[in-house]
Amino acid sequence: MRLQNKAIIVTGSTTGIGKAIALRCISEGAKVVIHGLEKDLGEAVMSEAGNDNAVLHIEDITNSGAADRLVDIAMKTFGKLDAVVNNAAAILSSNIETTDTVFLEKVLRINLVAPFALIRAALPYLSKTKGCVLNIGSVNAYSGEPNLLAYSISKGGLMTLTRNAASALGRYLFISVGTDAKVDRAAADRAEVLRARFAPWYYVVSEESVRRIRLRKSELAARKIEIKK
Ligand SMILES: NC(=O)c1ccc[n+]([C@@H]2O[C@H](COP(=O)([O-])OP(=O)(O)OC[C@H]3O[C@@H](n4cnc5c(N)ncnc54)[C@H](O)[C@@H]3O)[C@@H](O)[C@H]2O)c1
Repeated sequence: MRLQNKAIIVTGSTTGIGKAIALRCISEGAKVVIHGLEKDLGEAVMSEAGNDNAVLHIEDITNSGAADRLVDIAMKTFGKLDAVVNNAAAILSSNIETTDTVFLEKVLRINLVAPFALIRAALPYLSKTKGCVLNIGSVNAYSGEPNLLAYSISKGGLMTLTRNAASALGRYLFISVGTDAKVDRAAADRAEVLRARFAPWYYVVSEESVRRIRLRKSELAARKIEIKK
């Protein structure tokens, strides 16, 4: 139970990857704010999660005050906040001809401004618990597909937000924990490529990957990074 009694907000957890993250967090002992647009799907996630482990909040994340309401619900229900997973996103196709500024602003509000607002709203509480933020990115942040122009711009912005906040808040490592040797080797290979080309702060942390990327345990300890076994 790696997340015993951790209180976590997972945006966009009524479906897809967010739902999987939320249910996995609960299976590791966490309490989760389930969030998204679809009430019926959210209620289905709640029945899988159990009322003792989760609370449901249905709201468009671009509404004024939505970030504060998400944090308030976590605090009122669980009494603390340990992590925010910025997962909700609009994955909408558009290219240079079809992306007008109104459409671009709409995508940026959902995929970039809302995660930023949630980080700001959560920060005072995450500071108390020494908590963390996980922003769900995309390979499209690195230029992206022609038919995902607005989405790619938003994910590029989210990547910079992630790096900037990590740097500003003194957490220089982005951590991805592999759970089995096969996945972990693939993740470690990807991390090596990312580190070399774009992101010197990107590490995959596990015993296997620590050996592979020759990251000293003393360095991890100095940065208060736990090695998962
Ligand atoms: N699916 C992929 O292949 C893929 C690849 C790379 C990255 N990602 C990223 O993973 C994350 C989840 O993707 P997914 O495929 O599970 O998406 P999905 O479309 O299945 O789920 C999106 C979730 O976000 C919520 N959402 C969307 N707009 C919202 C809004 N305005 N207000 C509140 N909630 C809103 C939806 O209700 C839903 O719960 C996204 O950040 C996406 O960019 C996905």
